[in-house]
Amino acid sequence: MSDSRQAHDTQKLPDDSSLPRVTPAAGEQTPTGWSRRTAIAAGLGAGAGVVAGAGSAYAYASSQSPEYTPNLSTATVGFYGDKQAGIDTPPPAYGQFIAFDLGENTTKDAVARLLRILTQDAAQLTAGQAPIVDQEPELAAVPANLTVTVGFGERIFDIVAPEKKPDWLKPLPAFKQIDRLDDAWNDGDLLLQLCADDRVTLAHAQRALLKGLRSFGSIRWVQEGFRRSYGSENPGETTRNLFGQIDGTINPTSADDTMNQYVWGQNLEGVQAWEPGGTSLVIRRIHMNMDTWDLSDRPAREDAVGRKLSNGAPLTGTNEHDVADLGATNELGFTVIAPYAHIRRAAPEKEAERILRRPYNYDLPVSHASGISQHGDITGGISQTGLIFCSYQADPIQQFVPIQQRLAELDMLNTWTTPIGSAVFAIPAGCREDQFIGQSLFS
Ligand code: HEM
Repeated sequence: MSDSRQAHDTQKLPDDSSLPRVTPAAGEQTPTGWSRRTAIAAGLGAGAGVVAGAGSAYAYASSQSPEYTPNLSTATVGFYGDKQAGIDTPPPAYGQFIAFDLGENTTKDAVARLLRILTQDAAQLTAGQAPIVDQEPELAAVPANLTVTVGFGERIFDIVAPEKKPDWLKPLPAFKQIDRLDDAWNDGDLLLQLCADDRVTLAHAQRALLKGLRSFGSIRWVQEGFRRSYGSENPGETTRNLFGQIDGTINPTSADDTMNQYVWGQNLEGVQAWEPGGTSLVIRRIHMNMDTWDLSDRPAREDAVGRKLSNGAPLTGTNEHDVADLGATNELGFTVIAPYAHIRRAAPEKEAERILRRPYNYDLPVSHASGISQHGDITGGISQTGLIFCSYQADPIQQFVPIQQRLAELDMLNTWTTPIGSAVFAIPAGCREDQFIGQSLFS
């Protein structure tokens, strides 16, 4: 370990989904938890009981959390562990999601071989080392917080261990009111989620990993996303999406038990992870119509979400992390946070209805955006923009689906957003150095 990294040994990076990239100053706000600050809000626009999640997530800290280093060439996120990295670790600037389809006659042995190769290559790349197949080994020397997270679609279980397949591992129910799904962005047998703070590192990792996999099948889809660059956001700052909204305020955190509960399925009544250290990932590709968004003014934009654009505070509060008062009314007797506001509709009605959102923006080259529809993206304006909405939870049916159902029924944000892709993956536990990812399916 270099001197500069040793110097930061005790200064773990705090985070919610906001990518704080510099070491927090002494005495800075400590991580706050979600469940401990949960409040029951009264006066519900939609008529049902809503539990308003309060507080925030300032910490993604886990054993795999990267340390702050000013030099990305030495910045690594540990690969081995009970859980895979890339979920409760801070989101790096670039995210690449690759869905892979296995060849028709893939056998159980072939899947084991594939997972062994994948694990070995991923472990090396994330440590800044070149795998055997690497013909540009110099490019592997800059790990830049690279993480490789592996997810399984139904077919991996069907081939290897049908009895272990989680009940929820299937396409989500259709959300007919909003979905305009294109098969080009749906499903997949195997998911590779690659995240890094350097775009060259990411491109190289993708190539090196796919070289190892190419004899096993073919690529189904690739989604490329980005967030703010390393160092662009201040400690504790929540990131903004391309609508300009602060996005990620309410999220589980590792600073208390909420990450364990909602993502890893521990200590949550009625919800369990499909295997210890495992979880699930729902990826929704959501088009954001920047052209019609341009037509709405700031009050309309704030009303649609229920939060201020300036600092993300709820319309009933002053600061970002103030608890939204869903019961507060104005002088006319209307709720301040509208019945159709995104945060009212997304707020949990049952304890389990909480998810970890770790989205990436996408923004296709402008030349693709002038009226030509590619992969179902809606065009006609000057942008093809949206979110690769990644939601991690122990059980998508109990946690994700009720939220998405409510949003499909009523959510002012639907005016500008359209889901165009959808996929569900089981994320297996992490592994030790003498194991491979997914090994538990073979025992
Ligand atoms: C392009 C699509 C979307 C955009 C632009 C968007 C934007 C936002 C924004 C600005 C907030 C408020 C700040 C925060 O807590 O992060 C928020 C909150 C939230 N969103 Fe979304 N969102 C989108 C889609 C979704 C989807 C598909 C789901 C789940 C099905 C979802 C679930 C949530 C939840 C659970 C919250 C926190 C609600 C609470 O206050 O308890 N969002 N979103």
